[in-house]
Amino acid sequence: MELRIKRAPRIDIEITVPGDKSISHRAVIIAALSNGTCTLRGFLPSEDCMHTVNAMRALGIKIEQPEPDTLIVHGKKRVLTPPKKDIDCGNSGTTMRLLAGLLAGQTFESRLVGDAGISRRPMDRVIAPLRRMGANIVAEGPEQTSPLRIHGGSLRGIHYRLPIASAQVKGALLLAGLFARGKTTIEQPSPTRNHTEVLLNYFLVRTVQDDDGNVTVFGDQVPESRDFTIPGDISSAAFWLVAAAVQPRGHLLVRGVGLNHTRTAFLGILLRMGAQVREAIEDVDQHEPSGVVEVTGVPLKATVMQGKEVSQFIDELPILAVAGALANGQTIIRHAQELRVKETDRIAAIAHNLRTMGAQVTEMTDGLQIYGPALLHGARVASFGDHRIAMAFAIAGLFAEGETIVQDADCIRESYPGFETVLEEFSNPRRMQISTPVIGSLAPAPVEEA
Ligand code: S3P
Repeated sequence: MELRIKRAPRIDIEITVPGDKSISHRAVIIAALSNGTCTLRGFLPSEDCMHTVNAMRALGIKIEQPEPDTLIVHGKKRVLTPPKKDIDCGNSGTTMRLLAGLLAGQTFESRLVGDAGISRRPMDRVIAPLRRMGANIVAEGPEQTSPLRIHGGSLRGIHYRLPIASAQVKGALLLAGLFARGKTTIEQPSPTRNHTEVLLNYFLVRTVQDDDGNVTVFGDQVPESRDFTIPGDISSAAFWLVAAAVQPRGHLLVRGVGLNHTRTAFLGILLRMGAQVREAIEDVDQHEPSGVVEVTGVPLKATVMQGKEVSQFIDELPILAVAGALANGQTIIRHAQELRVKETDRIAAIAHNLRTMGAQVTEMTDGLQIYGPALLHGARVASFGDHRIAMAFAIAGLFAEGETIVQDADCIRESYPGFETVLEEFSNPRRMQISTPVIGSLAPAPVEEA
């Protein structure tokens, strides 16, 4: 599939977004370990999350899907059965890493495989600490890459400082810790999304978190079965929020979206660039806060994104780079080398596509310098098989002269089924009545010291 995009007329629209990807993966896994039936609403039925659902089915868990976004998970009190064949993680790094942690705690042997893209992604970050906990893991690919053959069981809790900030690795170790003797403590070099710990707590598993985001889980606990509603994915909303922010007087309201503070840092960046941003938390009942975000666009000014803040908006950097290209001045992204090992090398992909559309960009080992404001022109750009690159450049197309074609855009289904429908609305916005007043606002995040 390719996407064809023309310049957006005035944006003034209200939307919702599908369920949060990170929370969907974790909710299925933890519900599967629980002591009964859990109904999960707002589940994201994307390709990545369905790989996690099918993996849990392969491990003996009955999961019904009466609606695309509703799952009924029949937890079996931590009992999983050996899979009859390899578990396919597709292109989902979150599935492979979280499952590596879960399977490290099981006494049977299993094998995690995926597509060509995931076979290039680093797995040593999860293998090394799981081996320290006592798991037997063989990485069959070159340089500790997948397929992963795992024979677990008899784990011991460890105290581990993550060498790189990664919520997937933290999540994997917490799931392994649930099956380990004693306690497992994870220290992280900078904060990352905290959904594993929040959801474990929601399902009444005891964890302890300190102010720096370090987290401890105690082994041998059974999650208590409960129903859960997954909020909309703020990282999916980010594409539209940036589109509204870069258009002077553009206006967007997103409802029912997750507002966990470990995921909203990019809103602080939009504020720093001058956009008007408001958020109002409306629901905290289920531990994962959700509510409304409203953005009004202005001519944006460039900013510097660096240091410890970067891990908190790592998934939003492709679209923030597009915002940078349209902003006035030099936008600098540093300390973002993790972008090189995402679904593609996102630093190279962003630089390549921005240049193709007429922007001036300098690529650095750990980031980018983008010289704005660029007069973007429509062009044929590649997705590089990466959903966030495809979506970021579809948004860039809304602000380019002429037609933009995003090639190989099927990968968008990994995280955002229905993206094209919203894109269509942004190309022909029907003006909608915004009825509910929005309260509360954010302060701009200060620029980080290097
Ligand atoms: C995710 C964590 C992040 C993020 C990814 C989803 C998660 O990766 O980029 O899209 O659900 O834990 P890292 O673990 O590499 O930070």
